[in-house]
Amino acid sequence: MTDLARISFVKAGAKTAGTVAILADADLAVGKSAAALGIEKLVKRAAVTADFKGKAKAHLDLIAPADTDLDRLIVIGVGKAADIAAGDWINLGGATYATLAHAKKATVLLELPGKGAVSAEAAADFALGVRLRAYAFDNYRKADEDERKSISDIAIAVADPAAAKAAWASRGAIADGVLLARDLVNEPPNVLGPVEFAERVQALKKTGLAIDVLTEKEMGKLGMNALIGVAQGSSRPPRLVVMRWNGGKAKEPPVAFVGKGVVFDTGGISIKPAGGMEDMKGDMAGAAAVVGLLSALAERKARVNAVGVIGIVENMPDGNAQRPGDIVKAMTGKTIEIINTDAEGRLVLADAIAYTEDKFKPKFIIDLATLTGAIIVALGHHYAGMFASDDALANALTAAGTATGELVWRMPLGKEYDKAMDSKFADVKNAGGRDAGSITAAHFIKRFVKNTPWVHLDIAGTALGSPQTDTNRSWSSGWGVRLLDRLVADNYEGK
Ligand code: BES
Ligand code: MN
Ligand code: ZN
Repeated sequence: MTDLARISFVKAGAKTAGTVAILADADLAVGKSAAALGIEKLVKRAAVTADFKGKAKAHLDLIAPADTDLDRLIVIGVGKAADIAAGDWINLGGATYATLAHAKKATVLLELPGKGAVSAEAAADFALGVRLRAYAFDNYRKADEDERKSISDIAIAVADPAAAKAAWASRGAIADGVLLARDLVNEPPNVLGPVEFAERVQALKKTGLAIDVLTEKEMGKLGMNALIGVAQGSSRPPRLVVMRWNGGKAKEPPVAFVGKGVVFDTGGISIKPAGGMEDMKGDMAGAAAVVGLLSALAERKARVNAVGVIGIVENMPDGNAQRPGDIVKAMTGKTIEIINTDAEGRLVLADAIAYTEDKFKPKFIIDLATLTGAIIVALGHHYAGMFASDDALANALTAAGTATGELVWRMPLGKEYDKAMDSKFADVKNAGGRDAGSITAAHFIKRFVKNTPWVHLDIAGTALGSPQTDTNRSWSSGWGVRLLDRLVADNYEGK
């Protein structure tokens, strides 16, 4: 990973030189300390020539502006200052970083004309946007070697740097979690097998997380044959990784997150077509989000008890691979007829969820999985599909989605869909028909949850190959870390 931005907060109004970014509104008005640089006339004049109207996220780039000490002045538009919403700062930070990317050092004067200083929260969100945009996965490209060394030091000038720094502490932890999730997903599948994935999670012990790794033998003893069956066609053994963060009250039940961690999904014997199969290295994005989330919670010392459980397997077709027609007995005791070995994620989740519910008796279970291509057909790449047994939890997630921009759209559940998973030979089958594929998949999972409030997020569209935004230029978005961190912060951290 290359984390190309280093953030600091400094006092606005102190002497500023070098490369400087300032904000300007739709009237081309600038803040106090920007005005003190004596650049107002220059900006107005340049704006006419460049047709810059201070529109949100548009920018004007002036090299060595005359009669100043500056090497470069970048003016970032914010539109009408009164229209700026809380959620805009992160995107503004991302857009600003894009204009500064090649500067070794830069100062951003984060103040609004008329209004003066921005809040500490807004400054921290802006910095979060900078860090998310500054991420690049370029470990394997020789051509990017120089870029990897060109980290930008970004000083954000605000009225109260101490307050901004305090607000940044938690945002920095979230940024680290998102970038970690992106890194895990972008990593090629030859490098990141189940064992290697588990090892990377182990390294998070330093953040204060308690981490246990279950081997195939240990999972076998627990009866996790659904998960193990998926892995049996691969020469790489599966792992179940359990992360615990105890930042809440001693006896308080934890909140629980479960992730699908298929390090590569060939489809198994029901093999996938070749086109685009390389994307299936990202079939562990649910697990990566859970890891990123637990890392964020630990690093920001969240006042909550949380567990993260990820089932890590590789889905391969070899002489020992699972067959369509096989029947396996899951940890709950239910038998599953395998109809399609490419419907493997739900098999992994069935046992990972049963283990989580049994062992931790959590307040709720939220699972994340790149589960179905059908969810991309239904919702594209902008919303994740949400399936819920609990309205309050679903509503809290919808609110967290709106607040973070990691959007979820609730999909229906119902007994008509559930019936599609009845098997002729076993308690349940692992694939229904083509119709409503995301919904029948959710129903399969639901059959393995006893009575804990449960939400399933199908992130096949949002986690991989999602649209390029102000805060993400990477193939993998790290989707879910910010959403779930927000859910926890707004609802489960008693003040
Ligand atoms: N990992 C895939 C789903 C997927 C597709 C994720 C595209 C990301 C992008 C999953 O394991 C799968 O193969 N699902 C099948 C289910 C079917 C066999 C019932 C699918 O969606 O076709
Ligand atoms: Mn599959
Ligand atoms: Zn899969």
